[in-house]
Amino acid sequence: SERRLLLLPGDGIGPEIMAEAEKLIAILNAERSTGFATETALVGGSAFDDGGEAISEATMGLAMGADAVLFGAVGGPKWDGVAYDKRPEAGLLRLRKDMELFANLRPAICYPALADSSSLKRHVIEGLDILILRELTGGVYFGEPKEIVDLGNGQKRAVDTQVYETYEVERIARAAFELARTRRGKVTSMEKRNVMKTGVFWNETVTRIHREEFPDLTLEHELADAGGMKLVREPKQFDVIVTDNLFGDMLSDIAAMLTGSLGMLPSASLGKADEASGRRKALYEPVHGSAPDIAGRGIANPIAMIASLAMCLRYSFAMESEADALDAAIAQTLEDGIRTGDIMAEGCQKVGTSQMGDAIAER
Ligand code: NAI
Ligand code: MG
Repeated sequence: SERRLLLLPGDGIGPEIMAEAEKLIAILNAERSTGFATETALVGGSAFDDGGEAISEATMGLAMGADAVLFGAVGGPKWDGVAYDKRPEAGLLRLRKDMELFANLRPAICYPALADSSSLKRHVIEGLDILILRELTGGVYFGEPKEIVDLGNGQKRAVDTQVYETYEVERIARAAFELARTRRGKVTSMEKRNVMKTGVFWNETVTRIHREEFPDLTLEHELADAGGMKLVREPKQFDVIVTDNLFGDMLSDIAAMLTGSLGMLPSASLGKADEASGRRKALYEPVHGSAPDIAGRGIANPIAMIASLAMCLRYSFAMESEADALDAAIAQTLEDGIRTGDIMAEGCQKVGTSQMGDAIAER
């Protein structure tokens, strides 16, 4: 049967790196009979230029009907002056909201060939393979009230509100345990129960889901600040880290830098499972942005985009062996000394975006 992938390349280097993911999709179809059918549409600044919105209703319809969405990157200086609700990021936010993408998965994996390019010592990160799970649709980024109030006496008061409800913490906790079950069976939950009511609530809810539904797995708790310290000092002690929207934003960016370049980091955002088909809505994208400083030069690193495709195979289609093959091809390409400029090292062969895609495709 056909598997429908919506490709949203976006702006800047987005189309350049998406073209490399398409090479891999073609190979998977030809050699592994994966049956992917792709459609491509505009998002971000390029969609705004075309139709006045960062994503059109027609494209939203395609996204809602697709089995998975592959997203490049959006934004750039060209659209800096655009109204808030039409700016390129609005396209991504609309997708997250309508697809109810509540779980953001950010793996931090250290490829052996790059272990010396990290800011940390080789033994700290060699073999690192952890997954940060960030709650993406709740918490302080969305809670009401959210306002700046003029107090009238030359003073103002700014308010953001951290809110979590039971169902929100339960579903992200379940996602964490389900992911841990396919890995090393350990979840570390991070919050600030010492100073925040939402932290106490988060801790109690995750603990209950563990006891009632996943007692065979290991659950540990860390205060988010101390957890951040441990993440840098001894990252290999973790398997799956689950945390709220704000702490997850910070901890996943910190974890990203354990392993080196932004051009290497994939991500997945998963939504609710459809009741009829059981399939989760999902969007896969590199962590980096549209890199306007290098766009149009054919030098961007396509690995984050290609590794996002590997996550798509794994989490949307349960194609473990294909996902493993793709990840292994990336690792082998690096092992063979083939590098884009951002990860270039002495004695390696410097290549452009398309050659990097070809090298991975070959392997
Ligand atoms: P950025 O991630 O686009 O770039 C940061 C630095 O990393 C740049 O020097 C860039 O050249 C380099 N870089 C990023 N990806 C690379 C790759 N694949 N290969 C080689 N080098 C790479 O972040 P920046 O510069 O802060 O933002 C640029 C634009 O992207 C802005 O408009 C921003 O709003 C947008 N953005 C979009 C995101 C998305 O679509 N999800 C996420 C982050 C930023
Ligand atoms: Mg961030």
